[in-house]
Amino acid sequence: MLDRLVLRAEREHRLDKEDLVSLLASPECEEALAAAADRVRHAYVGDGIHLRGLIEFSNICRQNCMYCGLRRDNRRLERYRLSGEEIVMLAEKAKGYGYRTVVLQSGEDPYFNVERMAGILREIKKLDMAITLSIGERSYEEYKAFREAGADRYLLRIETTNEALYEKLDPGMSYKNRVRCLQDLKRLGYEVGTGTLVGLPGQSLESIAEDILFYQEMDVDMLGIGPLIPNGDTPLGDEEAGDFHLTRRMVSLLRLLLPEANIPATTAVETMVKGGREIILASGANVVMPNVTEGEYRRKYALYPGKICVSDTPADCRGCMEGRIRAMGRYVAKGKGFRARTLPQ
Ligand code: 5AD
Ligand code: SF4
Ligand code: FES
Repeated sequence: MLDRLVLRAEREHRLDKEDLVSLLASPECEEALAAAADRVRHAYVGDGIHLRGLIEFSNICRQNCMYCGLRRDNRRLERYRLSGEEIVMLAEKAKGYGYRTVVLQSGEDPYFNVERMAGILREIKKLDMAITLSIGERSYEEYKAFREAGADRYLLRIETTNEALYEKLDPGMSYKNRVRCLQDLKRLGYEVGTGTLVGLPGQSLESIAEDILFYQEMDVDMLGIGPLIPNGDTPLGDEEAGDFHLTRRMVSLLRLLLPEANIPATTAVETMVKGGREIILASGANVVMPNVTEGEYRRKYALYPGKICVSDTPADCRGCMEGRIRAMGRYVAKGKGFRARTLPQ
């Protein structure tokens, strides 16, 4: 019965909410789901895996999300902020490792205003790289200025589409403003990435199903999904961790319903399960974001504990990922890795 549903989703790229909930709730259909998602991944985005070089350039954040180690009330975190020159230098090194995209990620750090950010973007653009920003909520005008200065893509996870839960776990933030940000980014011609934090306390399978339908309705380009890893320096420190297998089923369902999307195997899945990235890459995902941040900053960018690669160098991660990808019978994709367009628009 459920296996028939999986095959229908593979053909039609559609499921209703009840069916999504049934599949999310069924560990026994996980392998069939992953196999179908792997076939759809192969058919729509191919066997190439896109590597995006991740630069964590500031761990200063004005927000106070209940799950995140960068939250402003966390006094135990040593804060840092790279200079514009350091950021551009890391991008140059990323280019040297063969990455065709850099992801500039930080907490919501107001120091990086339009003028400072635009200067950095213009410098990096000279390197002929695609640029993804992941710096939180800004105004339409700021997003417009970043786009004009060379940003191609933007990551902003909605975390959960349950409005009440969102506002409880992200105190002081408004769900409607988050959706506004995503819509503004789309309107400005960014490739837009969002995603779910799986295992938030109070999050139901219905709510995860609604997340999936929201992403399909918005026709988003990228989807980052990871399990909650409780951080002892945050109010959610004693909560249960998110479920790896539920995360995996969600990734597979996303591939079935958004066949062209770029979907990373996130750092959080590898933190939770050793070899987790390979499992997710074989269950629908086609992107990895190796860290190119250097030295002690890797450790200090502590969203959650146990983060992988904190003592590795950018060169280590580059070599490591290439080896793992080849061992899976896949290859590192050559291009900048914009969204595939194969479905009728
Ligand atoms: N566990 C897992 N993921 C987390 N994030 C923040 N804190 C945690 C945590 N404790 C994720 C959020 C955010 C992204 C940058 O990191 O989903 O969007
Ligand atoms: Fe800041 Fe993002 Fe962490 Fe929230 S999830 S505290 S906005 S870095
Ligand atoms: Fe960093 Fe494997 S990805 S060492």
